[in-house]
This record gives sequence, C-alpha cells and structure tokens, in this order.
Amino acid sequence: MDTQNQLSPITRALHWLVALMIISLLAVGFYMATFEVWALYPIHKAFGVIALLIILPRVVWRLKNGWPIPVREYLTWEHKLAVATHWVLILGTVIMPISGFIFSGASGHGVDIFGLVLAPMNPDPRHPGEVIAFNETVADAGNELHEIVGYLLAMAIVLHIAGALKHHIFDKDRTLLRMLGK
Ligand code: HEM
Ligand code: HEM
Repeated sequence: MDTQNQLSPITRALHWLVALMIISLLAVGFYMATFEVWALYPIHKAFGVIALLIILPRVVWRLKNGWPIPVREYLTWEHKLAVATHWVLILGTVIMPISGFIFSGASGHGVDIFGLVLAPMNPDPRHPGEVIAFNETVADAGNELHEIVGYLLAMAIVLHIAGALKHHIFDKDRTLLRMLGK
C-alpha cells in the first residue's frame, strides 16, 4: 500500500513501465507521422495496443488508491498544479491508444498485434495498396483527437519531469526518491 514514506512496488512498477512506453510511443508517433516512415506504423500500433493492457490496470489501481500523499506540505498552488498534471497524464494515457485504435480501425488501415488481427483492413479493389475508410468522419475524429491529445500529453510530461526535478534539486525533498523506491 502507498504511504507518505513509501510507494508500493505495484505503484512504482506501473509508473515506470507506463512512463517508458508512453515516452517511446510519443517519440515514434511524432517521428513516423512527420517523416512518413510507413514501416514504423504497424510497430507503433501493436505496442500502442499492448500499452493499453498495462495502462488500464494502472488507472484502476490509481482510482482505487487515490493520488500519493505528498512527502511534505506543498504550497496550495503547487499541489493543485501537480494534481491537475497527474489527471492530464492519466487521462491522456487512456485517450491515446483508444483514439489511435478508432482512427486506424475506421480508416480501413486495420490494426493487428504481430499478425493477430484486431480490426480488419479494407483494401480498395480498384487501387492496389490503398484502403477504403469504413467511416471517414469517425476516422478523422480519431485522428484529430490522437494528434491534439498527443501534444497535450507531451507538454504535460515536460511539466511533470520539470516538477520532479524541482523537488529533487531545489526543494531537496523525497518526491523523486520515493518514486524510485529509495
Ligand atoms: C499510448 C499509446 C499511444 C501514443 C502515446 C501514441 C502517440 C502518437 C503520436 C504522438 C502520434 C503523432 C501524431 C501526429 O503528429 O499526427 C501518433 C501517430 C499515429 N498513431 Fe499513435 N499513439 C498511441 C497508440 C496508438 C494506437 C493503439 C494506434 C492504432 C491502433 C495508433 C495509431 C497511430 C497512427 C496510425 C498514427 C499516424 C497518424 C498520421 O499519420 O497522421 N497509435 N501516435
Ligand atoms: C523521466 C520521466 C518521469 C519522471 C522523473 C517522473 C517522476 C514522477 C514522480 C517523482 C512522481 C511522484 C509524484 C508525487 O509523489 O506526488 C510521479 C508520479 C506520477 N507520474 Fe511520473 N515521472 C516521469 C514520467 C511520467 C510519464 C511519462 C507519465 C505518464 C504519461 C507519468 C505519470 C505520472 C502519474 C499519473 C503520477 C501520479 C502517481 C501515479 O499514478 O503513480 N510520469 N512521477
């Protein structure tokens, strides 16, 4: 169980596992979409779906246990900013894989995890190599959400890491050490 002095191994394992997956997926996502690196798309999609399998138990764990108690008393604004950022982070981690799945599924590109088909492709018989959207409006909405929340999440992560470093370097408190299990 999480206490003021110590975070449980489950909290720590889920935090660092999800953090690693999210930072990698954001980096690969922005890179492949900007430079149109098609070879990375199936890998991004497969790991994005796998990430959801770890993200969902984490959200349940967090909602069940509440946010960690601060290691000491923070200023009110600082505490409110940290909690707001944690909400953006946790909701963002849920919205990203779901919006990505909706986008890929509705656009007819399909989703599979290394061959296991989760949403079928819809090949265009008249234009080999191209696909026909099952529902263009839904696909566009998923795409927009995936991009906008992607930027929001990236900004929240920068703020979150800056906050963690501020606690460690300037406030010299145990916030970061506690998440590292020390
Ligand atoms: C936590 C999970 C995920 C994260 C953090 C993530 C992040 C991103 C980011 C940052 C982009 C670039 C957005 C842009 O500039 O357009 C992107 C693109 C994309 N993502 Fe994800 N993604 C995740 C999961 C998924 C899943 C599960 C799928 C599909 C099953 C998916 C499909 C795509 C596709 C197709 C693109 C390319 C969009 C384009 O070319 O406009 N993503 N992703
Ligand atoms: C190098 C990167 C990261 C560092 C150094 C870091 C550090 C920390 C620290 C020190 C805490 C404890 C805060 C407290 O006690 O109030 C924390 C909590 C949290 N972090 Fe991170 N973090 C990182 C990346 C991420 C990423 C990428 C995400 C999500 C996308 C994330 C989501 C959260 C959430 C939701 C919490 C609240 C507690 C929990 O749910 O476990 N973190 N982080």
